[in-house]
Amino acid sequence: MSDNPQRSMNAGRGPIEVPRSRGRVAVIPGDGIGKEVIPEALKVMRAAAGAGGRELFIKEFDWGADRYLRDGTTLPADAPDMFRREFDAILLGALGDPRTPENRHGADILMGLRFKLDLYVNLRPCVLFDRRLTPLNERTEEDIHFVVLRENTEGLYVGMGGFFKKGTADEIAIQEDVNTRKGVERIIRYAFEYARRQGFTRVCMSDKSNALAFGHDLWQRVFAEVQSEYSAIEARHLYIDNLLMQMLRDPSQFQVIVTCNLFGDIASDLGAGLIGGLGLAPSGNIHPGSVSLFEPVHGSAPDLAGKNLANPMGAALASAMLFDSLGWTSEARMIESAVRAAIREGKTTRDLGGSLGTLEMGEWLANRVVKA
Ligand code: NAD
Ligand code: IPM
Ligand code: MN
Repeated sequence: MSDNPQRSMNAGRGPIEVPRSRGRVAVIPGDGIGKEVIPEALKVMRAAAGAGGRELFIKEFDWGADRYLRDGTTLPADAPDMFRREFDAILLGALGDPRTPENRHGADILMGLRFKLDLYVNLRPCVLFDRRLTPLNERTEEDIHFVVLRENTEGLYVGMGGFFKKGTADEIAIQEDVNTRKGVERIIRYAFEYARRQGFTRVCMSDKSNALAFGHDLWQRVFAEVQSEYSAIEARHLYIDNLLMQMLRDPSQFQVIVTCNLFGDIASDLGAGLIGGLGLAPSGNIHPGSVSLFEPVHGSAPDLAGKNLANPMGAALASAMLFDSLGWTSEARMIESAVRAAIREGKTTRDLGGSLGTLEMGEWLANRVVKA
């Protein structure tokens, strides 16, 4: 196996056209614990791909705070096209470093890829693998099984706005909230299609249309329109403040939650909290039918970085989602089963009550995949 997908697929055969492999994965470990959990996820991926007889081509990119501080590189201009051309999926660790509090590189790399690859679906499953992991007393695995579908290319994240009289007592800071008809419709439609495909029967859209009378009025109108095309699916609306309260009070109400970029960010961390914490939560930044990016929901966790304490399960489960996107479903299930087995057997990192380090956790999962 080579780190260069083109070279190894073309090995010894001269300048033929490179076939479009279904397993060419670009890897951006990033910062902090991203650099610890991704190598473990790669061990697990390699084990599962090997067990399934799949060929996996990995190429790593060193974009992150170190590189940015060294030579100013964030996201090279040709990166989105290069990913579309040469890779089938992207695996990312996390971006964010205390040395660069303005997070310029993180914005360029993570937001840059989300926007430039038009990854409009941020899919964040919240599945309780073991009732011992939820902080909610008496909730079981049956009660917590939903996804947050977060609009991923618009809203308050577009970076439109500015300062006026910055640093003075009269300062004005404006941050625009962009909601387009196309953007809102495609994520809401995706939510209904996702529900139908996965056998879910309930979609809940959450906004703040009682206060945000323009942007979220659009969400209301589009939701009403799209839901009328899906009569078999129960459509419900909750304001975001109530949604978060209801998620805590009774998460079994929810199957598919669809919401805007910022609210989805917040709701998905709460969802992670319900299933055992950020160490366990995976996500996909998806453009259906095109190269997509998978990452754990968590960030670079500077409090844990460099200590071999981070849980690599979120990264491993993100790689399972990545495999699913390639159509490698049995290999994806192998990874999930290994994570479930680890939790069942109490082989976990400290965040889940165990005593394994990041490295040992990765080894355990990879060995489990091979043995299964
Ligand atoms: P964080 O997700 O890094 O950490 C939040 C809490 O969860 C911390 O207590 C941390 O120790 C814990 N945690 C996170 N991942 C864990 C894991 N794998 N195992 C065990 N515990 C884990 O969020 P934060 O502290 O708000 O942000 C830190 C940095 O990460 C910031 O620079 C932020 O901007 C960035 N960030 C990046 C991403 C991303 O790249 N997608 C996501 C979130 C935050
Ligand atoms: C996430 C993160 C990012 C976001 C930050 C790092 C900008 O919190 O992926 O959830 O808000 O999207
Ligand atoms: Mn977040």
